[in-house]
Amino acid sequence: IFSQISQAPADPILGLTDAFKKDPRQDKVNLGVGVYKDESGQTPVLKSVKLAEAKMLETETSKTYLGIEGVQLYNKVVQELLFGADSKIVKEGLAATAQAPGGTGSLRVAAEFVVNNTASKTIWVSKPTWANHQNIFSAAGLSIKEYGYYDAATQSLNFDAMMADLQSAEAGELVLLHGCCHNPSGIDLSAEQWAVVADLCLSKQLLPLFDFAYQGFGDGIEEDAQGLRTVAAVVPELIVANSFSKNFGLYNERIGAVTVVAQDAATVQKAFSQVKRTIRANYSNPPAHGGLIVSTVLSDPELKALWVNEVTGMRQRIAEMRQLFVDTLKAEGVEQDFSFICGQKGMFSFSGLNKAQVERLREEFGIYIVGSGRISVAGMTKSNIPVICKAIAKVL
Ligand code: LMR
Repeated sequence: IFSQISQAPADPILGLTDAFKKDPRQDKVNLGVGVYKDESGQTPVLKSVKLAEAKMLETETSKTYLGIEGVQLYNKVVQELLFGADSKIVKEGLAATAQAPGGTGSLRVAAEFVVNNTASKTIWVSKPTWANHQNIFSAAGLSIKEYGYYDAATQSLNFDAMMADLQSAEAGELVLLHGCCHNPSGIDLSAEQWAVVADLCLSKQLLPLFDFAYQGFGDGIEEDAQGLRTVAAVVPELIVANSFSKNFGLYNERIGAVTVVAQDAATVQKAFSQVKRTIRANYSNPPAHGGLIVSTVLSDPELKALWVNEVTGMRQRIAEMRQLFVDTLKAEGVEQDFSFICGQKGMFSFSGLNKAQVERLREEFGIYIVGSGRISVAGMTKSNIPVICKAIAKVL
């Protein structure tokens, strides 16, 4: 039976990490996967996380199953982080949240919930989008359409194309929106553009699905939620899939959440019963560790303040690396203007390097970036930037 199966292609992002690990070169650099590195090239466990884990070690008394929706306190603090503790959504119980395994798990639950319980069978995604989105949504049974987003000629957002494409969406169709730090382009909507998108979703009765994986990596924890909050204030229903892989550095704990919002608490609870059913059919109930860490940190004012500081530190270091990257390219004699990289938000830079250049970087110089030309600036340090820039200057 198995001999009929054909070889799957390597994953465009995680497959690169596999290839990187096998590469024997000492000076190799992995700028493929979106993983934060500190100045010494390490991916540290945050101090706030370590302190929460110490507390958990003292207080945890059982490893019995969680409910299908996960840690109760976690679901409360997630909603407060997304919408604000004083928001109407939180105060009036208009949202219901389930802990889920990372951003990917949350998106998959959201997509299956929609496919199995609504007439909606289509999702619109930005062009380009994260390499795993299409994979997740088609596995859940959604068909995929693309809306214009990135204009390669100007290295900027083509908002008119986005609006024109979404005008042709049918009522009930899903629209995937990157809450902040658009992956892979690093280009976000302005406050005014978010308001226009919110009105369009309302008037065309589209269902926004937010992928919110980088809260705190753009302008700040609260600032980065403004797009979501603008849309949530206008549309009657939406879904959020968020992740703490990046902003808590909890990559291997697979900790995220799926949150459903509706106009009244009774509708939310009915919909949420189906979200729980979807989860039960997938992995029954989530593992506890990540949910306990995040809820311990976010419910303790001192730990939360420490975490906010740590996120600020990561965001500022990435911004510094963007500037140093652009300056070093210039110093290496690269004539092309790369200053647009400083305006991009989040972990990634959409460099404009083509497939052949990306391949040369990997083969000749041991520098791994995604085939689309996406570079993880979060993996740059003062010591590897000179090597990276020299290599880019050579392949250009
Ligand atoms: C990325 O885009 O590099 C990350 O979200 C990691 C992943 O799972 O692809």
